[in-house]
Amino acid sequence: MIETNDFDLENRIVAPEVIKADTTDDVDLNLRPKTLDEYIGQEKVKENLKIYIEAAKKRGDTLDHVLLYGPPGLGKTTLSGIIAHEMGVNFRVTSGPAIEKPGDLAALLTNLQEGDVLFIDEIHRLSRAIEEVLYPALEDFALDIIIGKGPSARSIRLDLNKFTLVGATTRAGQLTSPLRDRFGVMQRLELYSKEELCDIIMRSSVILGVACDKDGAYELASRSRGTPRIANRFLKRVRDYADVMGNGKVTKEIVKIALDRMEVDDLGLDGLDRRLLTMMIKGYNGGPVGLETLASAIGEEAVTIEDVCEPYLMQLGFIARTPRGRCATDLAYKHLGLLKDGQTTL
Ligand code: ADE
Repeated sequence: MIETNDFDLENRIVAPEVIKADTTDDVDLNLRPKTLDEYIGQEKVKENLKIYIEAAKKRGDTLDHVLLYGPPGLGKTTLSGIIAHEMGVNFRVTSGPAIEKPGDLAALLTNLQEGDVLFIDEIHRLSRAIEEVLYPALEDFALDIIIGKGPSARSIRLDLNKFTLVGATTRAGQLTSPLRDRFGVMQRLELYSKEELCDIIMRSSVILGVACDKDGAYELASRSRGTPRIANRFLKRVRDYADVMGNGKVTKEIVKIALDRMEVDDLGLDGLDRRLLTMMIKGYNGGPVGLETLASAIGEEAVTIEDVCEPYLMQLGFIARTPRGRCATDLAYKHLGLLKDGQTTL
């Protein structure tokens, strides 16, 4: 397999974040399930949400504010859209970095209708000043507006329609506690199993009109790092290989050819993951090594390693986090074909 060092992170094929290739045309939007019953996986989250939604509807009330957290690409936005759909209300979408001034948030809030779902992605990136506007909105459905300056300044309270905030974050630990405390519902999304990803791929292939057999879907699922966004992206790329090199059908063989060419190995690791593990093993004797040290050694940002590489490498059992730093496990050595002294076994 060819290794390249010059990563274009924005276009990394296994990036769990939305990349340029994940366009939001009609077909892509169709891949998103609209109801809880259509949504595959996250069984515990679905069961809980079903109850909260049904109870709120029975009482004729709005749903409590919901915080969804977990690694990127697992369906936090999709699930929020489903909440709005199941509640029969409008779905308004924004993100922490997009709300620059308190006035931006005030404009959003005053435009909400009774019961609407306001989705704020990357909610951990809201500034303190904006959070201050959010607190009375979440608790009392009110906006406190300061009029004037200096000694003559007065505060007036503006009533808002009752709404549900759905916040999404990859880093729940970075939320301030006053904000975290205002969510009545907190749900963590987990990486998907291969079987669940396989079902998602089969569902997407029907929507996209791609012929895909079970073995092909399973091979794709095995390389998709527990992440539906990656699985759906791979499906579209593999379809290209199937059309050009095969008979249009996504089979195990075609998936292998396509993903090997994309430098994604049989467990879904790409060059960045392998570079990280190799550095831990060859550069630091398998660890323990600190996150920052590791990040500068491979020339990546610590958050990229933490949010993008580690969740999956930890699920595979390739990395262990210890109080003294990260360690590569025996499984990681084995996968890379390396011995404890850094020699290859090949
Ligand atoms: N597409 C992306 N994520 C999905 C999910 N969890 N269920 C069904 N289809 C999906």
